[in-house]
Amino acid sequence: MQYRQFGKLNFQVSALGFGAMRLPLKSHEQTDIDETQAIKMIRYAIEQGVNYVDTAYPYHGGKGEIVVGKALKDGYRQKVKLATKMPVWLVNTQKDMDRYLTEQLQKLNTDHIDFYLFHSLDKDRWTKIERLKGLEWAEKAIQKGLIGHIGFSFHDDRQTFKKIVDAYPWPFCQIQYNYLDTDFQAGEEGLKYAAQKGMAIVVMEPLRGGRLAHLPEEIEKILEQSPVKRSPVAWALLWLWNQKEVSTVLSGMSTFQQVKENLKIASQSRINLLTPEEIETIAKLKKAFNKLSPINCTRCNYCLPCPNGVNIPRNFELYNNAFQSGAFEDAHRQYLALPEEEKASSCLECGDCEEKCPQGLAIPDLLNKVVQAFTEQ
Ligand SMILES: NC(=O)c1ccc[n+]([C@@H]2O[C@H](COP(=O)([O-])OP(=O)(O)OC[C@H]3O[C@@H](n4cnc5c(N)ncnc54)[C@H](OP(=O)(O)O)[C@@H]3O)[C@@H](O)[C@H]2O)c1
Ligand code: SF4
Ligand code: SF4
Repeated sequence: MQYRQFGKLNFQVSALGFGAMRLPLKSHEQTDIDETQAIKMIRYAIEQGVNYVDTAYPYHGGKGEIVVGKALKDGYRQKVKLATKMPVWLVNTQKDMDRYLTEQLQKLNTDHIDFYLFHSLDKDRWTKIERLKGLEWAEKAIQKGLIGHIGFSFHDDRQTFKKIVDAYPWPFCQIQYNYLDTDFQAGEEGLKYAAQKGMAIVVMEPLRGGRLAHLPEEIEKILEQSPVKRSPVAWALLWLWNQKEVSTVLSGMSTFQQVKENLKIASQSRINLLTPEEIETIAKLKKAFNKLSPINCTRCNYCLPCPNGVNIPRNFELYNNAFQSGAFEDAHRQYLALPEEEKASSCLECGDCEEKCPQGLAIPDLLNKVVQAFTEQ
């Protein structure tokens, strides 16, 4: 495993961190985690040198923290820094903050959280944290030894990102960053801005929720032309580790094979590894992706459950698949096979999901696009 400096803190973080938002499942229910497999995967990653594990209150319908807590029993807790997040949208007083932290400590079976984040900050949530004096609350929790450091994860525009960065001497933050998102949300400019202030940068969604792992045929061809042979995942991850501002890359690994592959890629990583030609190849991939103009859903599931049972991310995934060359028939068949309530056509446009989407997607409008694509054929 390669280790990298974590901002100004006295901590060398593993290049690869374990993101526990996409643990293996036994059924299509997010709460139905395959615990045995998930625990094996987390422990194996730690044995191979991963020393940063990231979870959050809502992951897997509230079960994610419990499974991470189980994985970290038997001495594994001492080998890692543990990160989890305050569900900012659920707190209305400092008492709520106390209550959620106490619950999280219990679920995670630990007496302290090393890195505690205000989850998924945007303009409104930051205003709320300021109004509730969340930072004063966090400093008290640090004094009590309940949390080690306070940070935030972020989904909004760059201006808001800089405003939050400037508001407090944060030791770290977590941003969505991958080769498609250099100009989106915090983006490359935000990454550099925060790093210049000495903040550690934890990268989330490095494969854009898996999209960069499974390239459409026409994009895969760009890689075939490169003299350097590596998998799409290796291209995407090594591009991140190439940048000195990136501290650790969280990967939401769903299978043992993915853990093994990503560990192997991480062991090959280093700053300034890629040649200018290789960076140009990544730029070509990005350009080709942009031409496809898909729905930019990262399958984070934050919009679920829909009160009417619509499986929002699955509909968007099938839509995106459909517009890759030669893949329409297959995607169309899979759409028709969805249970009726899960189909885009079951959306009643109540709007409940829209404000939960970190990508700012106009979900009901886009579901309408899905219906049109799959019913007008
Ligand atoms: N704070 C926040 O607001 C927030 C938001 C999002 C994420 N996060 C954190 O950041 C972590 C990372 O984000 P992410 O889960 O979106 O990461 P990601 O790496 O962009 O996406 C993970 C998905 O990529 C695919 N994948 C990973 N490794 C692969 C490999 N070697 N080969 C093929 N496919 C591979 C898998 O998709 P398949 O399932 O298709 O196999 C996996 O589910 C999360 O787990 C979570 O801890 C935080
Ligand atoms: S707008 Fe549609 S998809 Fe969103 S929560 Fe309402 S019914 Fe579900
Ligand atoms: S629609 Fe938005 S909230 Fe829902 S899974 Fe996709 S990116 Fe996440």
